[in-house]
Amino acid sequence: MIEVKQLCKDYGNIRAIDNVTFSIQKGDVVGFLGPNGAGKSTTMKIITGFMAPSSGSASVAGFDVFENPIEVKKRIGYLPETPPVYSDMFVRDYLRYVASLKQVDKAKINSFVDRAIEKTNLNQVSHRLIHHLSKGFKQRVGIAQAIVSDPEVLILDEPTVGLDPKQVAEIRDLIKELRGQHTIILSTHILPEVQATCERVVIINKGKIVAQDTIQNLSTLERGQGKVFIRLRKEIQDLAGLLKEVQGVIGVDNGANKKEWKVDYKGDEEVIGRVSEKIVSSGLGLIELSPSKVDLEDVFLKLTYGSDNKIESSEKSAQVSSHVTV
Ligand SMILES: Nc1ncnc2c1ncn2[C@@H]1O[C@H](COP(=O)(O)OP(=O)(O)O)[C@@H](O)[C@H]1O
Ligand SMILES: [Mg+2]
Repeated sequence: MIEVKQLCKDYGNIRAIDNVTFSIQKGDVVGFLGPNGAGKSTTMKIITGFMAPSSGSASVAGFDVFENPIEVKKRIGYLPETPPVYSDMFVRDYLRYVASLKQVDKAKINSFVDRAIEKTNLNQVSHRLIHHLSKGFKQRVGIAQAIVSDPEVLILDEPTVGLDPKQVAEIRDLIKELRGQHTIILSTHILPEVQATCERVVIINKGKIVAQDTIQNLSTLERGQGKVFIRLRKEIQDLAGLLKEVQGVIGVDNGANKKEWKVDYKGDEEVIGRVSEKIVSSGLGLIELSPSKVDLEDVFLKLTYGSDNKIESSEKSAQVSSHVTV
């Protein structure tokens, strides 16, 4: 659905993106993850036809972004990093205006606008001036204008930046609801954002793509290993001893107390099945078993910050603040 080939962009003598190549299949929800200044917005602006690359090509639904910009723009809803929201317009009027710019059939404009308002939960403010809305609601208006023409592709550039935690959760829920209806690229510098909403991830650092894969594969990127977090009903002093004969288990670490453990394994998910069977048959009571995010975090930090670059601990803890379970 989206093909990006060897894109480069220079701003004067700064190379913002360097030989960026990736592809995204129809229906995928992909996180475009990288630290600030990595080149995310530059890439989004090129894919959406708002900026020309210095070299390379990009196409959406088979249309080259620069040879057929109108066909491409028809198929894309775009939330730029600074949403193009006209603050002296009323929410509904603004969305009608965007729908007409996007060449939505006149007879359908009202129903398309109603649907965008409904999906983004803007009903209560649809007759208010955009200028008077809170940042969270303005961001919703930005997303509403991106989806108003019901585009095949949605490109959201840092959709939750600057929002408070409640607003962040609401926007993430909204993105989850949009899954399945659009092909989505969501750029972010926050790992949990990707974990909360995406199936695949493309990681960019200093203008270069450093990884692209499913989240599942990336978390076990190295050595075919994985890690699961386990919470037991009963304490056990030596889980390593209990699991030592389970094929594929290569390490057991104690967590906050003797009920919480992390198990490293090598191989496929069959190992997890054997671990849980062993625990259950030992009568310890299995309350939780979830893939540990630590590995993906480690992979991300290593790919982006590098092992020799220190990262501030507050920044690291901000990136690990949400919890993902399956
Ligand atoms: N208009 C511009 N002029 C000069 N440099 C720019 C401009 N826009 C971005 N850059 C530089 O290009 C690099 C990538 O920026 P950007 O694509 O905005 O990254 P991100 O969105 O990942 O934070 C950064 O080094 C940034 O300073
Ligand atoms: Mg950006």
